[in-house]
Amino acid sequence: MGVLSFLFVCCKLLVFLSESSFASDTITSSQSLSDGRTLVSKEGSFELGFFSPGSSKNRYVGVWYKNMPVKTVVWVANRINPINDSSGLLVVNQTGNLVLTSQNKSVVWSANLSKEVRTPVVLQLLDSGNLVLRGERDGGSETYLWQSFDYPSDTLLPGMKLGWDLKTGLERRITSWKSPDDPSPGNFIWAVERQDNPELIMWKGSRKFQRSGPWNGLKFSATSLRPNPIFNFSFVSNEDELYFTIDLIDKAVFSRIVMNQTLYLRQRFTWDKATQSWELYANVPRDLCDTYALCGAYGICIISGMPVCQCLKGFKPKSRGYVDWSQGCVRDKSLNYSRQDGFIKFTAMKLPDSTSSWVSKSMNLNECREKCLDNSSCMAYTNSDIRGEGSGCAMWFGDLIDIRYFQDGGQDLYIRMSASELGAKGVSRTKIVVTVISTAALLAVVIAAGYLVHKRRRNIVDQERCKILDWSKRFHIICGTARGVMYLHQDSRLRIIHRDLKASNVLLDQDMNPKISDFGLARAFGGDETEGNTKRVIGT
Ligand SMILES: *[C@@H]1O[C@H](CO)[C@@H](O)[C@H](O)[C@H]1NC(C)=O
Ligand SMILES: *[C@@H]1O[C@H](CO)[C@@H](O)[C@H](O)[C@H]1NC(C)=O
Ligand SMILES: *[C@@H]1O[C@H](CO)[C@@H](O)[C@H](O)[C@H]1NC(C)=O
Ligand SMILES: *[C@@H]1O[C@H](CO)[C@@H](O)[C@H](O)[C@H]1NC(C)=O
Ligand SMILES: *[C@@H]1O[C@H](CO)[C@@H](O)[C@H](O)[C@H]1NC(C)=O
Ligand SMILES: *[C@@H]1O[C@H](CO)[C@@H](O)[C@H](O)[C@H]1NC(C)=O
Ligand SMILES: *[C@@H]1O[C@H](CO)[C@@H](O)[C@H](O)[C@H]1NC(C)=O
Ligand SMILES: *[C@@H]1O[C@H](CO)[C@@H](O)[C@H](O)[C@H]1NC(C)=O
Repeated sequence: MGVLSFLFVCCKLLVFLSESSFASDTITSSQSLSDGRTLVSKEGSFELGFFSPGSSKNRYVGVWYKNMPVKTVVWVANRINPINDSSGLLVVNQTGNLVLTSQNKSVVWSANLSKEVRTPVVLQLLDSGNLVLRGERDGGSETYLWQSFDYPSDTLLPGMKLGWDLKTGLERRITSWKSPDDPSPGNFIWAVERQDNPELIMWKGSRKFQRSGPWNGLKFSATSLRPNPIFNFSFVSNEDELYFTIDLIDKAVFSRIVMNQTLYLRQRFTWDKATQSWELYANVPRDLCDTYALCGAYGICIISGMPVCQCLKGFKPKSRGYVDWSQGCVRDKSLNYSRQDGFIKFTAMKLPDSTSSWVSKSMNLNECREKCLDNSSCMAYTNSDIRGEGSGCAMWFGDLIDIRYFQDGGQDLYIRMSASELGAKGVSRTKIVVTVISTAALLAVVIAAGYLVHKRRRNIVDQERCKILDWSKRFHIICGTARGVMYLHQDSRLRIIHRDLKASNVLLDQDMNPKISDFGLARAFGGDETEGNTKRVIGT
């Protein structure tokens, strides 16, 4: 008996030793990982261990890319519960649970497996960056007792699913860190919303700040992911699951999407082996028009437009003069809210916010139109699937919000109009476009400065035009421009820093009202953001 159990212990020891030296991507039941030791995935892509982020001294368990000069953490276990010393211990305990303890064995974090698992359980770090807990029985399969990919931090890695397991109700969303020193959940969230009319939404706290547009069978309506050699994407929607995922085509490439902690940005980076650094591949939001509801209800954002916010044809700005675009537009002619109304087709549109929308996959466009006409709160409809000839029906109720002109693959949208609006033949094209941000601010100051410079250098404002611009008009322009910049900087819901303010970007209408134009370099800031870095300061 004694000898047997001695042999047994020896065996265990041997197994343990061989495992710790040869299979360093796993730990098994009753083994543990202490601070200072790591697991490395088989091909050496990822590493699991304890780390301290930024200038923090706190210890967290996380997964990062192995062999990178910049430590890039892609997942954190105890996000909200740091350990303040090196006493941390990651354990697969006897009932098969993954548990992180500190000092006096107090549990800091656990994988929360609801069932006790008696069979040997293995924790393994895969080369995808996924940390998985496998029971003996589901050895080879892709269903794990638990996996870190189900509990994302701020990073979407290839193979991860963003969205829902509808059977278990599990939702996977990306949440930014609070700061570079603090991986606890911050303000920015990226998630799949609405099962029947799904789209990808970026939130700041409880406020939306960017949406992808609904899924249209091919893509999210306002995204321009083109075929490329690095990755492809898919959206899966069936009875069991609803998720967005990306796959690497070239498995040797490292690519990740991360919610930035401090900027209103979701960024895709690809690792550049030559320079040993992350190359920024894409930013979302891409431009000012990507900002949620920038132009308000029935406002349309046209990035090349001047101003970018305009009203849809048949609408006019709600507030006049000094315009806050977020108030949006109102109808020129009110609806009858009956079958006497009709529709105007707008092309190349980012479809409106689908919060109050309805979708039928079986209806065609004509049936869609009829159903929309019958419902007095239905304001727009279109095909829900644009593949082939187009099929299905999507309808929107209430005000239409967050529309943009999207030349690069936008969709048709049929918007409800009063019969009299439809009857007004030859509605001039200028009607589509509406009043300008009569605000442009700084520019006036710049124009005034331009005048002063002119005294010495000439040429800036020619003599003829100088005569038109008497000092009272200049003053008018200066005040208007200053109001505009003040609006952009302080009053608009998003702080907008123009970054290229110069006389040529202040345009005058026939009443000499200044308008700030060319937001090509502009950056939007959150209302409570007080700081930001920029490398591009031009003309300001
Ligand atoms: C670490 O935290 C424990 C309680 O969680 C506390 O008792 C201890 O004093 C802390 N140590 C340091 C160095 O702050
Ligand atoms: C394993 O950890 C879980 C979660 O902390 C706990 O509920 C369970 O009792 C632990 N099992 C043992 C044998 O300690
Ligand atoms: C030790 O554990 C107990 C309960 O598990 C906890 O209340 C206490 O704060 C812990 N002390 C330290 C120093 O971690
Ligand atoms: C485990 O459960 C606790 C309490 O229910 C929760 O705070 C924690 O976030 C859960 N951990 C995971 C990994 O789900
Ligand atoms: C994406 O690429 C991977 C690898 O080449 C392939 O297995 C997968 O089927 C592709 N997915 C789509 C939706 O094209
Ligand atoms: C956020 O963006 C800034 C500027 O591009 C960058 O320095 C920082 O590393 C980003 N944060 C994350 C988590 O990627
Ligand atoms: C609107 O409805 C009223 C009845 O409520 C009707 O008299 C009128 O002709 C309708 N107007 C239009 C433009 O269809
Ligand atoms: C219009 O459709 C909405 C959403 O399906 C529904 O809640 C509402 O009752 C309908 N209204 C009418 C008048 O049919």
